[in-house]
Amino acid sequence: MKFPFPVSADVPLYLAPMAGVSESPFRQLCREHGADVVVTEFLSAEGIRRENEATLHKIAFGPEERPIGVQIFGADPIAMGEAARFVSDVFQPEFIDINFGCPVKKVVRRNGGSGCLRDLDLVQQVIGAVVAATSLPVTCKIRSGWNEEMRDPVSIALRCQDAGVRAIALHPRTRTQMYTGSARWEEIAAVVQALDIPVIGNGDIRTAEDAVRMHAQTKCAAVMIARGSYGQPWIFDQVKDLLAGRTKRPAPSVPERFAIALAHARKVMAYENDPRGAAIEFRKHLGWYSKGLHGGAELRKRLYAVTSFGEVEGIFADYLANAERYGNAHLLDDGEEATGAMVEADAA
Ligand SMILES: Cc1cc2nc3c(=O)[nH]c(=O)nc-3n(C[C@H](O)[C@H](O)[C@H](O)COP(=O)(O)O)c2cc1C
Repeated sequence: MKFPFPVSADVPLYLAPMAGVSESPFRQLCREHGADVVVTEFLSAEGIRRENEATLHKIAFGPEERPIGVQIFGADPIAMGEAARFVSDVFQPEFIDINFGCPVKKVVRRNGGSGCLRDLDLVQQVIGAVVAATSLPVTCKIRSGWNEEMRDPVSIALRCQDAGVRAIALHPRTRTQMYTGSARWEEIAAVVQALDIPVIGNGDIRTAEDAVRMHAQTKCAAVMIARGSYGQPWIFDQVKDLLAGRTKRPAPSVPERFAIALAHARKVMAYENDPRGAAIEFRKHLGWYSKGLHGGAELRKRLYAVTSFGEVEGIFADYLANAERYGNAHLLDDGEEATGAMVEADAA
């Protein structure tokens, strides 16, 4: 299936938009580890239109992140059009993505995100305004509906296609489900069947095997991973191995994992202006990188207290030097690793 921007992979792997997670440093890292396409976190059309400094900082990306989509949200077609025009002119990403999936109260209250799913005429107006305002391809990301009564991903996706989107990502849960229950992959398959444009499957991919299973079961044109990338950006390389019929490369050893975490931290240092705030924000990633390690709880206790990146290096070195204290630091507890990356989310 042809994507509306150049991407070489047969089945492109997307790093999902994630507020507070899929920022420029993590996007770069995931691109280095096999992600083919990345998307910014959702950014408000109003913030963009007003050229809010923090919002514009979140749009900025480097050439190594391409192909990249900038995701915008809002329920006012005029504001959405203006935001799309501004992003296209100033940042020139490969595509503009519209968020119709965010379930967070303060967003849906104003009909943003999945709030729009209650009114499909509004969805089409928003898409129409964005398509008219930019020469870039426009894509969107939806949930299966507002609630169980309004659950109808095929009709929603068809309306989006008719309004002019060139690809569509489906997270097959309703807004009221938030993150409960399971993503219904059969709805992805149904949307793939019904549409002429590429459909990107998303939801509940925790392992490389899950991604391959989703692709086989739904025939989606691309696979999008959100929480399954937490602390394991190499999941993309592993999916690539399996899709190419190769044996999946093993997860990195503990020293390699720490080296990747530090490479991530260096990218964050280069990107953020407030080193202390950035180190504190980075604690969540440190927690994810240390999931499943022997003595992980003790390690995390130390990592959750850091206020500078320098401390992280010391804590990792100490952990490796004292490996025997934990039995064998180079072994992972498989059970914890398999479930560790999935956490309940309170965002989109
Ligand atoms: C912390 C967090 C932030 C998110 N932020 C966004 C966002 O900004 N835009 C969006 O479209 N989806 C957002 N999502 C939803 C994810 O992109 C994805 O649809 C959802 O997590 C299901 O995929 P998963 O099972 O692979 O995590 C977010 C999810 C999480 C966990």
